[in-house]
Amino acid sequence: MSDTIYIKSKSEIEIMRQAARIAAGARSMGRQAVRDGLTTRQIDKAVHEFIVKSGAKPSCLGYAGFPAATCVSVNDQVIHGIPGRRVVRNGDIVSIDLCAGYKGFIGDCAGTYPCGEVSEEAQKLIAVTREAFFEGIRFAKVGYRIADIGGAVQDYVEGHGFSVVRDFVGHGIGRGMHEAPEVPNYRPERGRHNPRLVKGMTICIEPMVCAGDWHVEILDDDWTVVTRDGSLAAHYENTILITDGEPEILTMADDI
Ligand code: MF3
Ligand code: CO
Repeated sequence: MSDTIYIKSKSEIEIMRQAARIAAGARSMGRQAVRDGLTTRQIDKAVHEFIVKSGAKPSCLGYAGFPAATCVSVNDQVIHGIPGRRVVRNGDIVSIDLCAGYKGFIGDCAGTYPCGEVSEEAQKLIAVTREAFFEGIRFAKVGYRIADIGGAVQDYVEGHGFSVVRDFVGHGIGRGMHEAPEVPNYRPERGRHNPRLVKGMTICIEPMVCAGDWHVEILDDDWTVVTRDGSLAAHYENTILITDGEPEILTMADDI
């Protein structure tokens, strides 16, 4: 990945807002498809159709060879689950992650949703993961640095007895799905590149949280990331804009 951080112009930001709004709508469609008896492929179909109907492109499809519009990750699967024949059942938690490309720019968001009644631990994990995002964006302002965001996410998650994934991180976003800078969910070691936040940056803050230990593995399908200890995992992501005041959550919707 190039180290260049692309600062977006006013007109580029307007297109980012539109791409992100479509991504947020697609996430809502995916959330509504988390129902007992539906397959992960059916969840992907609901997301995919919404993106296309909105005049956008499902940017994950074909990205580095990924075979679907949506990453659908169940229970101990953290991210990058490949939709397929797996049936979602009551008690499962399902993470949905997607990107929408519109007029040359990309919006990216994710969330974890319960199917029916889930365990108390699962409910707490979902809530803490989402809240960790909101802890992180408190520092997504001019005057702070990237590491301030990850530090806040990490402290909040660990304070609730869970752990943050180290092997995957958030990222800048714009014309590219993954632009500089990296946005870790932890406090990076001293001396690592830690850019200042600047007005016009668009970034994805995406806590990936494990109920147990943070170590992960990749399955033989070369995509699905699972917790090594088999513990549950959750994910929550929004595309945000750094302004000269409060950050703007571009992929926000009222039901997430
Ligand atoms: N949307 C994911 C992210 O947060 C990327 C998905 S990987 C892909 O960066 F291959 F599916 F695109
Ligand atoms: Co992302």
